[in-house]
Amino acid sequence: MVKAKTTASPRPRNTEPIYAHIVGWGVGLPERTMTNDDLTAFVDTSDEWIKARTGIHERRIANSKETTATLGLKAAQAALNIADILPTDIDLIICATSSPEYIFPSTASVIQAWLGASNAGAFDLSAACSGFVYAVDMAAQSIRSGSITTAVVIGSETFSRVIDWTDRGTAILFGDGAGAVVLSASSIEGGVLSSVLRSDGSGAEMLGIPTVGSIDIADIPTIGVNEGHKMGKMHMNGGEVFKFAIRVIGESITQALDLAGLTVADLKLIVPHQANLRIIQAAARALKVDESLFMCNLDRFGNTSAASIPIALCEAVALGRVVPGDNIAFVGFGGGLTWASMIVQWSDPQSEDRSRLLTRQRREISYRVAWWRARLIRISRQIDDLVRRIRPQRGRMERLRRNMDRSDF
Ligand code: ACO
Repeated sequence: MVKAKTTASPRPRNTEPIYAHIVGWGVGLPERTMTNDDLTAFVDTSDEWIKARTGIHERRIANSKETTATLGLKAAQAALNIADILPTDIDLIICATSSPEYIFPSTASVIQAWLGASNAGAFDLSAACSGFVYAVDMAAQSIRSGSITTAVVIGSETFSRVIDWTDRGTAILFGDGAGAVVLSASSIEGGVLSSVLRSDGSGAEMLGIPTVGSIDIADIPTIGVNEGHKMGKMHMNGGEVFKFAIRVIGESITQALDLAGLTVADLKLIVPHQANLRIIQAAARALKVDESLFMCNLDRFGNTSAASIPIALCEAVALGRVVPGDNIAFVGFGGGLTWASMIVQWSDPQSEDRSRLLTRQRREISYRVAWWRARLIRISRQIDDLVRRIRPQRGRMERLRRNMDRSDF
């Protein structure tokens, strides 16, 4: 059995090969479900059309308290439980998202504070629906270089907040949710074996979410990415994205397999970005494999962008479709344009010794301390601000009183 290190430890010597294993996984899903029939109340569409053209039956939609960070936090906590590590063991948190709460601070930093991951760096990664694969690659590279030992990679989205609900070409496709994995350094061979990251920015206008970027504020002529589209709302040329997706899925999985020295026959499962069942069926035909090789749960979650691969991965693990020793592939594609494939040799280093009570309690305490710490720091800053605002007033009053004392009347 693969034995990966799951707690912070001295950096491995650079002379020894280091492998990056996935040792924890989890999801954060909104409670609320929106069916295709629910959608027909305000979008000109039908349950039959959506099922036939996309394979989607329903999706989860965030309530007013659920955000990209709260869903991401839930997924990260679930992944830490499986990995059975403490938040303070984390060196790096990457959140792949196209629906961050702000341009900055990053959603990853917000989650870092809530976790109490006080030894971690944190940043968001923007590569649309390919973001999760990009982020796992960044984390794995950092682990393999020996610069870190433990990373949390989150894919989290609340696309319901950036969807144009009057556009039936996009409104029917997307859902909200988050998934996360913990990656850990190990001297045992396996884990992330290879990855292929690609981009073609000449297709930038094919899908996007126009927001106020630096050039919009400065009124500089743009390359037309935002032109003719509603600010803050997602737009997509569905037909073109469809063709692009079918082309790159097979191509990039084959490239990643070549890099890992494997063939498609060595794969036990492909976990693709969950965009459209017809895209997955066409990709299976292109790769000349049975459709059942692909993990598919878009019928219940729709397209959750950067979160779709980790959400589907967690379900595959729960269903026993991935077991230690299996070679699996991730493939993402989307805005940018971007696409990415990755081959992972699955390992479950702790299956017999999972979530020890003591570590679980320490994690719970850490979350509570982090919650109070963030609030207390904010309150003390507000008090500081108040005192600073009152002090000059007091100085001004004293000066006025002195002047009055010195005056003749
Ligand atoms: N309900 C009913 N009818 C519809 C709907 C709808 N929701 N949407 C379109 N139609 C109609 C169209 O008006 C058209 O009618 P017409 O023939 O009378 O003109 C007909 O259905 C066919 O429309 P198409 O747009 O050609 O439908 P298509 O089969 O291409 O499906 C879809 C559209 C589902 C958007 C598909 O193109 C798709 O899935 N594209 C890929 C999306 C994707 O993979 N995105 C991934 C990246 S997302 C990211 O990166 C954030």
